This record gives sequence, C-alpha cells and structure tokens, in this order.
Amino acid sequence: MKKKPWSGRFRAPMAETAELFSSSINYDVRLYKHDIVQNIAYAGALLKAKVLTAQECAKIIKALEEILKGIEKGTLKLKPELEDIHMNIEAALIDKVGDIGKKLHSGRSRNDQVATDARLLVKYETTEIIFLIKKLQTVILNLADEHLKVIMPGYTHLQRAQPVLFSHHLMAYFEMLQRDKERLLSCQNEADVMPLGSGALAGNSFGLNLDLLAKELGFSKISKNSIDAVSDRDFAIDFVFACSMLMMHLSRFSEELVIWSSFEFNFIELSDKYTTGSSIMPQKKNPDLAELSRGKTGRVYGSLIGLLTMMKGLPLAYNRDLQEDKEALFNAMDTVKGVLSVYPEMLESMKVNAEIMAAAVKKGFLTATDLAYYLVRRGVPFREAHEIVGKIVAYCEESNMQLEYMSLKQLKGFSEHFEYDSTRVLSAESSIASRDLQGGTSPKRVREAIKNGRKNLLHDKA
Ligand code: ARG
Repeated sequence: MKKKPWSGRFRAPMAETAELFSSSINYDVRLYKHDIVQNIAYAGALLKAKVLTAQECAKIIKALEEILKGIEKGTLKLKPELEDIHMNIEAALIDKVGDIGKKLHSGRSRNDQVATDARLLVKYETTEIIFLIKKLQTVILNLADEHLKVIMPGYTHLQRAQPVLFSHHLMAYFEMLQRDKERLLSCQNEADVMPLGSGALAGNSFGLNLDLLAKELGFSKISKNSIDAVSDRDFAIDFVFACSMLMMHLSRFSEELVIWSSFEFNFIELSDKYTTGSSIMPQKKNPDLAELSRGKTGRVYGSLIGLLTMMKGLPLAYNRDLQEDKEALFNAMDTVKGVLSVYPEMLESMKVNAEIMAAAVKKGFLTATDLAYYLVRRGVPFREAHEIVGKIVAYCEESNMQLEYMSLKQLKGFSEHFEYDSTRVLSAESSIASRDLQGGTSPKRVREAIKNGRKNLLHDKA
C-alpha cells in the first residue's frame, strides 16, 4: 500500500474496499495527456512565481515527458490505490525526481486540476466530433445531389402526405446536423474557461500569472470565481446535452433507415457491409447498425440525466460526487463517435430504390392538397375547397381509382370551378415544382440548399 499524500493527518490506512470503491484510475487514465500538458504549464507558472528554480522546473518537465511516454507504452504501472490519474502522475514524478517532484502541487488542488483537464478534454473532443459530423454532412450532400430527380412520399403521422424530393428529405438531416455543430461550438466556448488557479476553492496564493498560464493551455478566458470554477460542471452537462441532441437526430434517421429498408417499404437497401444476417433465418438481412445507433441514444440520455442528477444537490464547492462526471463524458463522446464512425459509409453504400418511391407517390392521393389549392386560386375559400376535394378523395377511394385518373367531367361534378387545366396540378412533379420558396421542396430550391450547404461546410467554423 502506497502512502497517501494526506497521511500526515490520518492514524489508520484506508480500507481496501474503500480504496477500490473510490478509485477512478481505470477510467480517468484517459485524461493523462491533458493532465501532463497541464502539469508542464503549471510547472512553468511556478517557475515564474519563483516557487521552482529553473533547474527544478526543467527536471520536472523532462520527467513528465518520460511519464507521458511510459503511460503511452504501458510501461508505467498505474496503481488503483493512488486513486486517480493526477495522483498516479504525481507519484511517478516523485519516483523519478525525488523531493523536487513534491513541489509541483504547490497552490494547486486536484479540484482545479481535474476541472482543467475535463475542460481541455471537452474542447478537444468537440472539434473531433464536429469534424466527424462534417464528414457525414458531406455524404448527405453527395446523396442529395445524386438523387435530385428522385421523388418520394413525404409523411406525416407515418401516413403518405405530399410528394417531396428524396434530396429534400435527406437535407432535413443536414440541417439538424448543422445545428448540432453550432451547439457543439457553443459547448466548446463554454469549456474554454480556465479554472486552474482556483486551488481547492479559495484561489492560489503564489502570485501566478494566470493570463500567461491560460495562454499556454489554450484557454481564452479565466474563471471569474474560484468557488464556482471548481464545482461547475455546466460545460460537461452542455456537452452531453449536445451529444444527446445529436444522437436523437441520428436515431430518427436510423428509424427511417430501418423502416425504409423493410420489405413493406423497400425504399432503400442497406449494403451487406452495414447489415447482419440471422443465426436462424437464412433469408434475413437486418439493419443492425442503424438499430444500434438508435438504441445507443438511450445511454447518452442516461449520461445526461446522470450528470444533472449528480449536480442537483451539491453544496458549494467541490464534492467527490463530481468524480462521476468522467464516465458520463466518456460514454457520451465514445457513443457519438462510434455512431459517426459507421454512419457516413452506411449511408453512402445504400441503394436507393427510386422506382419504388415513385410508385408509392402514386398511391394515397398525395396531390389532394394541390387540387384544393387549384380551387383556391379560382376564388373558392380554402375550407370549402378542402371539403370538395375530400369528397373527391372519398369517391376515388370507393371506385378504387387514383386522383389523376379523374376526368374533367368527373371533377366538374364536384365543382364547376374545375377547368381544362385542373388535372395538371395532380402530378407529383408539378406539386413539387410549385413549392418554390425558401425551404421548399422544388428542385430549384433544393439545388440551392445543397449549394449553400457545401458553401457552409467549406467556410463555416461549425
Ligand atoms: N478524481 C477526483 C475527481 O475526479 C479528483 C479530485 C479529487 N479531489 C478531492 N478533493 N478528493 O473529481
């Protein structure tokens, strides 16, 4: 059993079960890089504050670099009884440089240390996730471009509603992802505040130059209140919320892929590379990757609720409960990155069954609204037009006929306002072309949306 840094005050060693229970090294080892970067910067700050000599500082930095390599190569043994990554690194440092190593923690607490690491992590991971989202958006843009001529039924209540371009439908997800990136950027901005210097809770008394320290660590802001700084996890909650929202979007997309690839819909076929077979039914091809993406959304929501619940009863300032933030963060970022690692290619490799979509548009009276609008343009109040066309639909249903097969004579039987050109509005193409306004599904507008999307990807920060 290793001596604890706080052993001076204690008469009995910690129980082994308690040690195991409270140790976080198994997972917070993932913070090692951020912790070492922070340690190096902190050593520099202590040098400037004259707590360390130049020689001591150089020795510490060299040893920290060796520790980094040791962790990376797996040659440095991490010990659960040393609780966490911070104390493991400190112990390894003292092993290497002796008493000098004991000076590094001057003025610092693990409270400001861990908050700094976590913020560095979130800053880094948001950039990574934004990059992955961009990759997925690029695939969506390419698919939308490629399938500009494909018409599909748009749905409400999962009932056929109105014809839309398949590309327009795809671009809806592009927009959601755009918001996700903006949300992640705002998380990054929130994480970009340095808590280092806050000490345990009251601040640091060694005259640190925090501006310099922040610059060195890449933080653009410094926390304004040391008590808040060590106990605040809003940035973590915001990040996991942004991940939850992203997962919710991808889960909806997954649900559509599952539905579309069913025998009943058959709008798409997912590639063999992104499906699985059945261990019992030889004919099966299952959309497991889409299902897992949908299913894993739950665990990210779980992390969000876990974090919010963890925080709600905490008095100021640091409480050990806060250690629980790590697994929630890791779980959210790993899950999101996992889903984003399969999604672009899963989409890119799917086959789009354009004829089947087009055939589906033909059944279900999808242009009934267009027919009502025809009457509106001839002065019939919309509610009346709605009623008239409703009756036409009922008639078609009874006679097992599609709307576009109604003759002018038949139409006139329902309203004298129908003229020779009324059947023109009944085609899916004319319906789609008529939605020619910002955000609409007309080919011109969708092409424009794709073009703008590409421009955004090139020039936007998000
Ligand atoms: N492993 C701890 C955490 O993640 C580090 C901070 C410990 N601080 C303390 N006062 N016990 O929160």
